[in-house]
Amino acid sequence: MKAILEQLETRREQARLGGGQRRIDAQHSKGKLTARERIEVLLDEDSFEEFDMFVAHRCVDFGMDKQKFPGDGVVTGWGTINGRMVYVFSQDFTVLGGSLSATHAQKICKIMDMAMKNGAPVIGLNDSGGARIQEGVDALGGYADVFQKNIEASGVIPQISVIMGPCAGGAVYSPAMTDFIFMVRDSSYMFVTGPDVVKTVTNEIVTAEDLGGAKTHTTKSSVADGAFDNDLEALQEVRRLVDMLPLNNRSKAPVRPFFDDQAREEPSLDTLVPDNPNTPYDMHELVRKLADEGDFFEIQADYAKNILTGFIRLEGQTVGVVANQPLVLAGCLDIASSRKAARFVRFCDAFEVPILTLVDVPGFLPGTSQEYGGVIKHGAKLLFAYGEATVPKVTVITRKAYGGAYDVMASKHLRGDFNYAWPTAEIAVMGAKGATEIIYRSELDDPEKIAKRTKDYEDRFANPFVAAERGFIDEVIMPRNTRKRVCRAFASLRNKQLSNPWKKHDNIPL
Ligand code: HXC
Repeated sequence: MKAILEQLETRREQARLGGGQRRIDAQHSKGKLTARERIEVLLDEDSFEEFDMFVAHRCVDFGMDKQKFPGDGVVTGWGTINGRMVYVFSQDFTVLGGSLSATHAQKICKIMDMAMKNGAPVIGLNDSGGARIQEGVDALGGYADVFQKNIEASGVIPQISVIMGPCAGGAVYSPAMTDFIFMVRDSSYMFVTGPDVVKTVTNEIVTAEDLGGAKTHTTKSSVADGAFDNDLEALQEVRRLVDMLPLNNRSKAPVRPFFDDQAREEPSLDTLVPDNPNTPYDMHELVRKLADEGDFFEIQADYAKNILTGFIRLEGQTVGVVANQPLVLAGCLDIASSRKAARFVRFCDAFEVPILTLVDVPGFLPGTSQEYGGVIKHGAKLLFAYGEATVPKVTVITRKAYGGAYDVMASKHLRGDFNYAWPTAEIAVMGAKGATEIIYRSELDDPEKIAKRTKDYEDRFANPFVAAERGFIDEVIMPRNTRKRVCRAFASLRNKQLSNPWKKHDNIPL
């Protein structure tokens, strides 16, 4: 009997070694943790329960019958993050480069099925050379099975991907269908095909870093939602994010204890908006001053910086924030910012996270590059996303709300629940100067007349009261009291019920 028990322990030891000590050392020498070490950092101590530790591949081609590693290159199971259940898979680069075989895929699909059944997020720690080349179509089929699960799980449970090594081919398409992708600087890459293939096919010479490093994907492609300096930081930040999210689409985000007065006044907000309407200010300041303890988990902080997206808590409850950023492009909406914010709004709506919208937007960015790039369709994504969202929506206009962008940014007309404006708000079709130059084109050669017309237009529209007279603004509020007003608004919406007409699904302008 003792011998049998010992045999189990020996087998476990062997499985824990993955591809062997030499490869583990190589992993460490690149500053990377192993698959199991990553799970240890991600989950609460001793909470991990592993599945399929002894699963082995069934390939016999190319000498694979002599290369068997228990677990087949991926560690799967469930555990907890601050006591809340999550499912995890962690690819083991020490085993055949973390490449995906049919059995490796089955392990991932198994935990995804369980996650959907039991209503808990899936966190994928990706470190994989893609489809296992020796397996051919079996590996491709395995990827497609994982993709199908990603699609079915989308909107049911949060799916988070952390890219922690070189991820190529199929290894990037599964993360691409999850809700959030985070990368590790200098050790993770994502590309459909690596630099060598790029050179062969297009003659382009590019480094892995430039082609698919963290900087590329957080600033240029927007494929990744954030990047961190090392494995430890990335995993700890994922814990922080999970703390803010609901476990599934039928439960609400957890309410955490908070140590911040719900009615906290912020006198400094009374002077946040500068006297000159063309002087920018940092919208981060407002977000942080509204949030419980100033805590803001920003999503896509380095991409389309003219709009901010991320999570805060108000009275301990998670709220998604979308805010125009006057510091960049004067806070204009453009293709990139519309796509960024639309995706964020849809995540919030899918998972019942209320949305706070902070508005200071002079309109859509004009010009050929925007029009040729399809700003009409991309801008419509944000409009569509806000309009279809049924979660509580609270909007605060701090300064400009001009033109179509006024409508788009969670206006009353798109079923905004509470639409507040600061006294500094200007709600109009466009800025006074542009408006005057169009309506009084015939007087353009008389600067004095135009100046007077501009002043008249400003007096009439550069305020929140015309909109308030029509009920498009529910209340003009003192900036210093914004936290209190917004907290009370969300508190009153906790039992909000609103649904859209029955449909198979909508046809958002993709
Ligand atoms: C089998 C693989 C592998 C793969 C790596 N290995 N990728 N084994 N299938 N796809 C093995 C290597 O043979 C090596 O084994 C070990 O993993 C480590 O790999 P190295 O090359 O030594 O590591 P490194 O220099 O860090 O380079 C990592 C890498 C590179 C960038 C990922 O290995 C690479 O380019 N691999 C191929 C990537 C690729 O083209 N994948 C197929 C994509 S097609 P030993 O025994 O020496 O430790 C695809 C189709 C799906 O995924 C599409 C669905 C839409």
